[in-house]
Amino acid sequence: EDTHKIRASLLEWYDENQRDLPWRTSTKKSENGENVQEEEKRAYGVWVSEVMLQQTRVQTVIDYYNRWMLKWPTLQHLSQASLEEVNEMWAGLGYYRRARFLLEMIVAEGSEFPNTVFALRKVPGIGDYTAGAIASIAFKQVVPVVDGNVVRVLARLKAISANPKDKTTVKNFWKLAAQLVDPSRPGDFNQSLMELGATLCTPLNPNCTSCPVSSQCRALHNSRNDESVMVMDY
Ligand code: ADE
Repeated sequence: EDTHKIRASLLEWYDENQRDLPWRTSTKKSENGENVQEEEKRAYGVWVSEVMLQQTRVQTVIDYYNRWMLKWPTLQHLSQASLEEVNEMWAGLGYYRRARFLLEMIVAEGSEFPNTVFALRKVPGIGDYTAGAIASIAFKQVVPVVDGNVVRVLARLKAISANPKDKTTVKNFWKLAAQLVDPSRPGDFNQSLMELGATLCTPLNPNCTSCPVSSQCRALHNSRNDESVMVMDY
């Protein structure tokens, strides 16, 4: 019951309030009749953006992403690039290994895009987070995504105060996210959690009055009943 409410509220909020980002293409209007090429194209864009976003802020990534896609609009284009060119394009983003991994992936995959979490996880440089993001956003697989933002949002929503640096805690967040992910729009749902954490459910001064799931939020509920508890504690 709570789960259904949370899904519906988050998706509705996301549809209205998501930031307009260049790698976001609506999966809503292309639900039927989508061909493999469109899917692969979206996967490539999601992959490039998510690898860039792993350790770099959204605002910084936008310019890099646009320049990248102009130069190498498809995986086939990228497969012709040299490591020097890729490194040059990447300059300033940091973590040059990520650029190398991008290129290595194509070599390993023969420029076909892996489309399951299992296959994606075998690609160098793709961890649980990136695999879940690509599988759900590009290929609509019903799999969760957990990053720092998602951990904070879920911790507050469910009032979980366990140390997020703890390995078992992180595992539990993946489990929780797996139960929560909306089966009909997994990619949008996952992005709504990340988006909420990036824009409203921020570490300091969260904007609970604008939050679509404030009435389901146990941390907020607790903080209202006990002055010594704060949403920020989660
Ligand atoms: N941070 C990393 N990937 C993101 C995405 N797809 N949407 C919002 N924030 C993100």
